[in-house]
Amino acid sequence: MTDRRPAREWDADLYDALSTPLTARGIALLDRVSFRPSDRVLDAGCGTGRVSAALLERLPAGEVIALDGSAAMVDRARALVGDDPRVTLVRADLGEPLPLASPVDAVVSTSTLHWVPEHPRLFRNLAAVIRPGGSLHVDCGGEGNIGEVVEILGDLGESHPWFFSGVAETETALADAGFRDVRVWLSDDPVAVAPDRLEDYLATVVLGTHLAERSADAGRKLVRRVASRMTVPRFDYVRLNIDARRASATAS
Ligand SMILES: C[S@@+](CC[C@H](N)C(=O)[O-])C[C@H]1O[C@@H](n2cnc3c(N)ncnc32)[C@H](O)[C@@H]1O
Repeated sequence: MTDRRPAREWDADLYDALSTPLTARGIALLDRVSFRPSDRVLDAGCGTGRVSAALLERLPAGEVIALDGSAAMVDRARALVGDDPRVTLVRADLGEPLPLASPVDAVVSTSTLHWVPEHPRLFRNLAAVIRPGGSLHVDCGGEGNIGEVVEILGDLGESHPWFFSGVAETETALADAGFRDVRVWLSDDPVAVAPDRLEDYLATVVLGTHLAERSADAGRKLVRRVASRMTVPRFDYVRLNIDARRASATAS
């Protein structure tokens, strides 16, 4: 189950080395959006900035606000895209009202929103920074995501921090936050990991919150126990996909 946790730190270097499949998924999301060259776009949970960099290629006269809750991620994104005058880097928690100077034409978010509890509140925070008629495009973990890992954690008596939402509750939360033309769907996107990278992947991409809450030794033990119980080194990702448009008046 979920509870309210603030954004935490990530190992940005290791994440960058392991995140190629997630970047590919983020670029696939960008490919389904028709940006105008001058759009101002928020990358909500930009991580190391690889999807922000691909976004910049689509916005020759536009702007990217690359926002993340982890200082290490923001620093790493700054190293990648910070020299570009079209980029503003922001460290902020998506669970709180967002400190943007002016509204954006669109928000994109990849592999992030399942880390943020209370989606109704999160969607209100996003709606508040999108101009009327602007759009929201999301890929994140959805109902049934990494089911084997969730089951293993349950068997080990561990809770988890993820908010793996279903279609109907997401549609309701988006409508309540003032979004219209809402399209929400789940899709399977399994990712195989090299066996010798499985523990690193678990520690960095999957179990970071669990590790942040225990000693390094206890964290390593948990990672090993989860890895040893997985049937194959593969994550059966189920993605929650969202396209929506902000109505002319934001719901309060
Ligand atoms: C799996 S990474 C995805 C990064 C990038 N979008 C990508 O596709 O590679 C998840 C990111 O979400 C950020 N994040 C998680 N919870 C957050 C929150 N409450 N506020 C802001 N960022 C958050 C993390 O710091 C991390 O950079």
